[in-house]
Amino acid sequence: MTFIRSKVVGLGSYLPSKVISNNELSRTVDTSDEWIRERTGIVQRHISETETTAEMGIKAAQNALIDAHLLSSDIDALIVATSTPDLTLPSTATLIASALKIKGFAFDISAACSGFVYGLTIADALLKTGSARRILLIGSERLSKIIDWTDRNTCVLFGDGAGAFILEASEAIGSLADEGILDTLLCADAQEYHLLHTSGGIASTGTSGVIQMNGREVFRHAVMKLEDVALEILKRHSLTGDDIDWFIPHQANARIIDSTAKRLGLSSGKVIMTVHQHANTSAASIPLAFEQAVKEKKVKKGDLILLDAMGAGLTWGAVLLRY
Ligand code: UT7
Repeated sequence: MTFIRSKVVGLGSYLPSKVISNNELSRTVDTSDEWIRERTGIVQRHISETETTAEMGIKAAQNALIDAHLLSSDIDALIVATSTPDLTLPSTATLIASALKIKGFAFDISAACSGFVYGLTIADALLKTGSARRILLIGSERLSKIIDWTDRNTCVLFGDGAGAFILEASEAIGSLADEGILDTLLCADAQEYHLLHTSGGIASTGTSGVIQMNGREVFRHAVMKLEDVALEILKRHSLTGDDIDWFIPHQANARIIDSTAKRLGLSSGKVIMTVHQHANTSAASIPLAFEQAVKEKKVKKGDLILLDAMGAGLTWGAVLLRY
């Protein structure tokens, strides 16, 4: 029997050119570069002045198509993970499909900062069942539009950007030596949704609202849940941190990343950290970090990689893949 794996055949990303440093932010809110660096690791964030979520996603997708040596006509399906869609309807995925002339099916998913991990799981299932042969998965966020720029508890944490993977169904033998997605593990604890939410929405207030977060509690849940999910997915395959070549987590806070890495017994040399440059770009953070690590020649084809993410919902999950 043929075994199908979802192989990553193309990577792309896009960051808006405007960069705001911690010092610049400290001129408008009561904060400091020292506080932000110490508590989060963040040094700067990219902010979109005019580009929408779809426009940033299009640029990331075009870069991924170039990387994969593919044309948009080679793509069967497009999934966009975002919390900041351009329009209430249709989906951002259909706006991007229209611009790139992609003819396959297209839809958005909403899983906040876990969006890319949820998206990889959905794409993997669609490829394995034969619903598509090549899927373009994009995480794109214009979080600057849902930030209260007067709230120091949240405005220092987030940034804008987009990242994309092209995943292709590929015949494999069904072992951990295969290239592609090897396993995924998704979780949610809806009882805790109140810890991180927007103050409005289209069917309630008629506005998008702004992000409100109980940072200390989200931090506590993130440390516990991300450690547990990372250990669980490794355990399912009798792996330990030693077997992992690279850990590419969602980039929310350097202290959360360090804590998970420590629990897995990973040295900092195996951890990809981009939060200092990009801040938290929600569903875009993992593909942005992944592509940067490949460009810097850290991550190479054949490496065993662990991804994890946690976000509003609360939602969280992990993915094990061989690049
Ligand atoms: O992507 C997934 C979702 N998000 C996350 O994973 C984020 C999770 N949470 C965090 O990263 C951290 O909790 C924060 C970075 C948000 C906050 O760090 P913390 O070490 O948990 O600080 P804290 O909430 O315990 O606040 C400490 C103090 C407070 O002052 P008081 O009440 O002790 O007087 C805050 O008012 O720091 C104050 N504070 C600030 N001070 C300067 C909060 N934000 C700022 C700020 N600048 N930007």
